[in-house]
This record gives sequence, structure tokens and C-alpha cells, in this order.
Amino acid sequence: ALRRATNVHWHTEQVTRDIRAGLMGQSPRVIWLTGLSGSGKSTIANALEQRLVQLGRHTMLLDGDNIRHGLNKDLGFTEADRIENIRRIGEVAKLMTEAGLVVITAFISPYRAEREMVRNLLPEDEFIEVHVSTSLEECERRDVKGLYKKARMGSIPNFTGISAPYEEPVSPSLVIDTELVAVEEAVDRILESIGFNR
Ligand code: PPS
Repeated sequence: ALRRATNVHWHTEQVTRDIRAGLMGQSPRVIWLTGLSGSGKSTIANALEQRLVQLGRHTMLLDGDNIRHGLNKDLGFTEADRIENIRRIGEVAKLMTEAGLVVITAFISPYRAEREMVRNLLPEDEFIEVHVSTSLEECERRDVKGLYKKARMGSIPNFTGISAPYEEPVSPSLVIDTELVAVEEAVDRILESIGFNR
């Protein structure tokens, strides 16, 4: 059966973002993880989503697996393509907040200007920028996918940190260095920063 909200006024005969979120009993957020390849964004994002779901939140995780193989499969890793990648992800994340969801994104998102563009798409308190700040040295040492090695050999052009830039956030909500902070601790800190740790 449909749960009905009380005291809802249908001024414009439209269902609003507040009404959608209200039915789920939550405040929409975009938790935007940014950092180098192999910094731990996806690991933290997945653990965070699990915890949010355990807390009864309605979530969606956007990452390379569901975006770069689908919506953005026409895009590569030139500067222009990365800008377009992040622009589309920002718009999709915005739509999902309008659907009432707590959205987690895990993309390198190397350019400050595009992260600010996404911030400006959303109400001020809904965008939480989390810098997964694991150093290049450590990401390269781990080299989980072997991509840094290939990038050093020159067989992957425009590789972030090697032959393409990464612009660190100036004032992120949170900075997490996975050399110093374990995954569950990272999740605790993010939940705390958005007031969801109950
Ligand atoms: S971006 O910069 O935000 O558009 O990148 P993103 O969509 O997050 O994709 C990053 C993942 O793609 C793989 N990959 C590359 N990364 C950086 N530079 C180049 N040239 C590149 N080519 C492929 C890489 O596995 C990244 O994975 P993550 O999950 O970040 O480690």
C-alpha cells in the first residue's frame, strides 16, 4: 500500500523533490569522492553505500562500472571527454537527488572547475566533496590494475598523475588518506560529516 504524506499541499499540482524525499524519510545528498586512480574511491564508496542501506537509506552509487560502460561509453580520457564525463554525471546525480536519493559518486574528477560546476547544480548543503587523498606514490606502489606501469611505459596516454593533471580540492568537506585511515573508519567519518551516523 502507498504511504501517504500528510499536510502536503499541491500548489502547482506537481510532485516536488521534497515530497519524493519526504516519502523516503530522508534528505538527498551527493557524496562526491574525488582522487587518483587506485586511491580507494570505489572501495570506500561501496562500503559507504552498504552502511547507508543498513541505516535504511535509499541510495545510488555511480562509478565507472555503471557509467563509463553505459551512458558515457562514447567518452575517453582526453581533457574534453573527462569534462563531459563529469558534466553528465553531475546532471544524473542531480536528477537522482530530485528522486530523493543519497547519491555516492566515485570518479577521479580531476578538474576543480567541473567539481565546482557540479556543486553549483545542487542546493548548497547537498554536495559533500570528499578528497580521497592517497598519494601518487602509494597509488603507484599498489598499482592494483597495472595501469601506472603501463602509463610509465607510455602505453596509456593522458594518465592522471603521470601525464595528465589532478587538481586537488581547495576546501573539501573531508580528506581521507587511505594510508592512514581504514575503510570502515573512512565510512564513519563520512557518515558523521553528513549527520547520518545513527
Ligand atoms: S575521470 O577523469 O573522472 O573522467 O575518470 P573516471 O571516469 O573516474 O575513470 C577513471 C578510471 O578509468 C581507468 N583509466 C584511466 N584513468 C586515468 N587516466 C587514464 N588515461 C585512464 N585510462 C583508463 C582507470 O582504471 C580509472 O579507474 P579508477 O577506478 O579511478 O582507479
